Amino acid sequence: MRDNTIQQRPEFTFRENLKNGRHGWIRLTPAYSVTLVTDILNRERGTFRILDPFAGTGTTTLCAAEQGKYGVGIDINPFLVWLGNAKIRRYTPSDIATFEQTVHRIIPAVRAEGPKVTPPPIHNVERWWHPPALDFLCRLKYELDTKIHEAQELRDLLYITFCRVLIMISRVAFNHQSLSFNDESFSQGHLFAREDQYITILSEVAHLVSRSAMSNPRGTGKVIVGDSRMLACLADEERFDLVITSPPYVNRMSYIRELRPYMYWLGYITEAREAGELDWQTIGGTWGVATSRLAEWRLASDTFLTRDLHEIIKRIRSAENKHSFLMAQYVAKYFEDMWMHVKAVKRWVQPGGHLYYIIGNAKFYDVVVPVERVLADMMRESGYEQVSIETVRKRNSKKELFEYIVSARKPKKDDQ
Ligand SMILES: C[S@@+](CC[C@H](N)C(=O)[O-])C[C@H]1O[C@@H](n2cnc3c(N)ncnc32)[C@H](O)[C@@H]1O
Repeated sequence: MRDNTIQQRPEFTFRENLKNGRHGWIRLTPAYSVTLVTDILNRERGTFRILDPFAGTGTTTLCAAEQGKYGVGIDINPFLVWLGNAKIRRYTPSDIATFEQTVHRIIPAVRAEGPKVTPPPIHNVERWWHPPALDFLCRLKYELDTKIHEAQELRDLLYITFCRVLIMISRVAFNHQSLSFNDESFSQGHLFAREDQYITILSEVAHLVSRSAMSNPRGTGKVIVGDSRMLACLADEERFDLVITSPPYVNRMSYIRELRPYMYWLGYITEAREAGELDWQTIGGTWGVATSRLAEWRLASDTFLTRDLHEIIKRIRSAENKHSFLMAQYVAKYFEDMWMHVKAVKRWVQPGGHLYYIIGNAKFYDVVVPVERVLADMMRESGYEQVSIETVRKRNSKKELFEYIVSARKPKKDDQ
């Protein structure tokens, strides 16, 4: 019955964010929607300090600040931390005027076929950008790197513009869940191959960024680099009334893989090995070196393993597939990491505070992994009360895949 009534609800995905000012600055498919976060914030009107331990593009932090609250985001990926802070920053009219003047000043220099940076060391770079597009980006990046020494506000707006332009003139297509290449043409089916078209795109993007930068959030916030399995990046005395977050799904999607064009261009990754290393630190990461490490990884003896979960992992391991051992390792490690997180976060939640985790279930071979139930069990085991699971939407055409909100409350008398 559930399958017929629960809809896909695109307003609850990242698509909604693309038309939503700063929320749409840079696309990350697993970002959740502003509508969903706003709905939760509206349920919890009395709250002020909001934590997102898996901040991604900073949706929660920005939504909280837009409602006049204080939002703190944590992410393991330094590029996303930069992006989150750039989105939440307050820009003065003078910052925006300087940004617009700088873009005007840069355009003739970029057009003049002047000096350029070397292309980023991303594998098979020609597959990402047609030669004239790559050349344009190298000249634009040179201008940004060498001519701009001013305030962080200006740098942020310029590099956000650069990131958007580099994706718009790339050959990347977004018609799947993650990015893929569009070998026939450029993104969105347009063929941008002339210099003046790149300049037009740059001007249009700069205009869009400057318009959205004008509307500053009423509240404040920050995004910090950290590992949410430990949360050592948070100050001891910090406490939050509310946690709204979306941890990685156990679906083998790599955020580093998705974000690699930006990360290479902005210097967050300088070689492929670094990307694999970072993916290994990321919960649910299985890209590059992370895959080979998984084979040797062993479950800790004190991990959270209910009988159901044990059985699920066993069934995945015994599936008739050459990757079944690795997939079972992947699922087991995912839950071990999430258990570390669930235990760690409690200390920073105010007694009486609420958790809201947006999570999807998964399927390996014919085995459905009920991530929402395991997460709810972990919350109960850690001493939370009122643990509940709400189905939000159907994820795609596969009838078993859904998105859920798992929520819970820390007991009022619990100050652990
Ligand atoms: C589903 S995404 C969050 C998307 C976010 N809700 C948004 O709207 O953009 C999960 C995020 O968790 C981050 N992450 C994964 N492992 C982490 C860890 N151990 N500590 C902190 N962040 C982590 C990933 O880098 C990714 O950005």
